[in-house]
Amino acid sequence: MSDGLVSLVGAGPGSVDLLTLRGKDRIEKADVIVYDRLVNPELLDLARPDAQRIDVGKSAHHHPVKQREINDLLARLAKEGKRVVRLKSGDPFVFGRGGEEREYLKAQGVEVEVVPGITSAIAGPAAVGIPVTHRDYASSFHVIAGHRKREGHELDWDNIAHMEGTLVFLMGMESLGRIVENLVANGMPATTPVAVIQWATRADQRAVGGDLATIEQQVEQAGLGAPALIVVGGVASLLDA
Ligand SMILES: C[S@@+](CC[C@H](N)C(=O)[O-])C[C@H]1O[C@@H](n2cnc3c(N)ncnc32)[C@H](O)[C@@H]1O
Repeated sequence: MSDGLVSLVGAGPGSVDLLTLRGKDRIEKADVIVYDRLVNPELLDLARPDAQRIDVGKSAHHHPVKQREINDLLARLAKEGKRVVRLKSGDPFVFGRGGEEREYLKAQGVEVEVVPGITSAIAGPAAVGIPVTHRDYASSFHVIAGHRKREGHELDWDNIAHMEGTLVFLMGMESLGRIVENLVANGMPATTPVAVIQWATRADQRAVGGDLATIEQQVEQAGLGAPALIVVGGVASLLDA
């Protein structure tokens, strides 16, 4: 095993001061920062001036650096003895492929640690006044990847539409119509409250609220797009307008 280390660091949902103290420590000490598209660029200012910064940002249709190449890059840098920060938005294990990177690095004999981050799935709704488990409305919450159809698997909509908890869809903006359609087709009332929050916790945060019947129109009128969270359930009615 080399002396290098890869820290899979959660950058938090967007606002710089929602990074953890441990995450800040790892960024300050890093020789190299390998970061994603949604990471707030201001976080890179915490790194040493001589630290290398590598953008491997991925957007919905555009994958500048393939996952396999990212894995190899991280392993190579650590084997050179470097302290590597793999900086991911939110929490590295919530739809961040941190799990795959950790497995790969371990298999390569590279030391790897995980620095959890505040996930947008909870902090995003909270930033607009939505408590995902307010006891008057929900006793659970479910975080769902909204784009799964494109990846070739369909979600179990019957099951999802009958869950009693709050639903939080990530990566769902391009599929908003399909999400609404499937929930209603599987028995969820069209009057169920929905909130959509874009760039949560950042200076340019925007949000709209409505219900399953109206949300698409509201989103279109407001001109909201990715990255955003779609919150479905009674708690969405608590959105601070
Ligand atoms: C690949 S997932 C990564 C999630 C991240 N690991 C987390 O825990 O927040 C990217 C999706 O997270 C959501 N997301 C992340 N940051 C966001 C933010 N500040 N505002 C709204 N949505 C955000 C969006 O749905 C976006 O498409």
